[in-house]
Amino acid sequence: MVTRRDFVKRLGLTTATGLALVQGLERKNLYAQTLEAHAQGVYDNGVIQLNQNESARGPGSKTLDAIKAHTTKRVGRGYAPDHVNELKESIAQRFDVDSSHVLLGTGSTPILEGSVRATCSASRALVAAVPSYSTSEQTAVKIGAEVRRVPLTSSQHLNLEAMAKAAPGAGLVYVCNPNNPSGTVYGADAIEAFVRRVLRESPDTIVHIDEAYINYADPGAMETALPLVKEFKNVFITRSFSKAHALAGLRVGYAIGHPDLLGRISAAWGMGDVNMLGALAALTALNDDDHIEQERLENFDIKTFVTAAFTELGYEVPYTHTNHIFVNLRRPAAEFREACLAHNILVGRDFPPLEKTHCRISLGSREEMTRAVEVFRRVLKG
Ligand SMILES: Cc1ncc(COP(=O)(O)O)c(C=O)c1O
Repeated sequence: MVTRRDFVKRLGLTTATGLALVQGLERKNLYAQTLEAHAQGVYDNGVIQLNQNESARGPGSKTLDAIKAHTTKRVGRGYAPDHVNELKESIAQRFDVDSSHVLLGTGSTPILEGSVRATCSASRALVAAVPSYSTSEQTAVKIGAEVRRVPLTSSQHLNLEAMAKAAPGAGLVYVCNPNNPSGTVYGADAIEAFVRRVLRESPDTIVHIDEAYINYADPGAMETALPLVKEFKNVFITRSFSKAHALAGLRVGYAIGHPDLLGRISAAWGMGDVNMLGALAALTALNDDDHIEQERLENFDIKTFVTAAFTELGYEVPYTHTNHIFVNLRRPAAEFREACLAHNILVGRDFPPLEKTHCRISLGSREEMTRAVEVFRRVLKG
């Protein structure tokens, strides 16, 4: 069971502020509040949540219709859930691989955790950028593996040169492209040169390329590393349905890699059971290219508007290829977070080692961001 305190911790809030927020939410009728908020184009219950990089717009209409059509008494049957194998096959077909090269998870999180457990140990390090998505790093710390942390460059890109230098002898190199939190990307040539160098200098190292945000990248800015997965047994990619496909609450993600490597990953950590509605929703969303393109364009407009607002206020925002921005506020993220929360806007957690200067802000809907930008102006000018 998730306690209030756990929930508050997950939001990255101080206990006092967080508990006050949660108690405030509980006092009201959450269902009525949700309907009212949705009617105003606001996704959440009074607090605009810009802290988790979820899609504020929810899934596309085809996916929602599919979920509704399958919300029947059939959900009483599910230990051998419908659609899960179909989803695996469909992913395999889309990426032109055999289904044995696809590993499903309840979100990509268990795959990230399993991959570190399978490849790192007290004698095999993890190489990871900081700040970057932290599940791999946290897992390495849990199992007592060394973490070779490589700071981002001054332009907030992964420092691929330094990561390659840190790779020899490592168990796993984690490459988040586009990177969370900085939103920066590398194109296909840079990633290919990096992977070839790492595997030449350290043939037993595994390279993980996390493409959770790929659907938000500007066209031409990056490519999937799938060709490298097909060429090298030691390279795998992960994808998530929690971002542009907007299925975070249904928990579906996947990896594509060599079956031997995927077998090691799933032997090291439970992937959970993808459920029938999640599988059906993912199956529909996976092939709804029109919706993904609309989602990318909508996010593009919103990022342009929000970035311009910060630039006008005199703050630096690296160009983002994701649904979040990472702003140099020249003040601690915690201070900004508390100030915004007083206006019912919740922004991202701390991202060490840049927590004293930078804050990650997820991009919500147009309505949410219009309100949020007013608050940001007030807080920053104040
Ligand atoms: C880069 C990256 N990878 C993986 C994940 C995990 O997402 P999920 O478990 O919902 O697939 C996230 C979530 O924020 C992320 O930002």
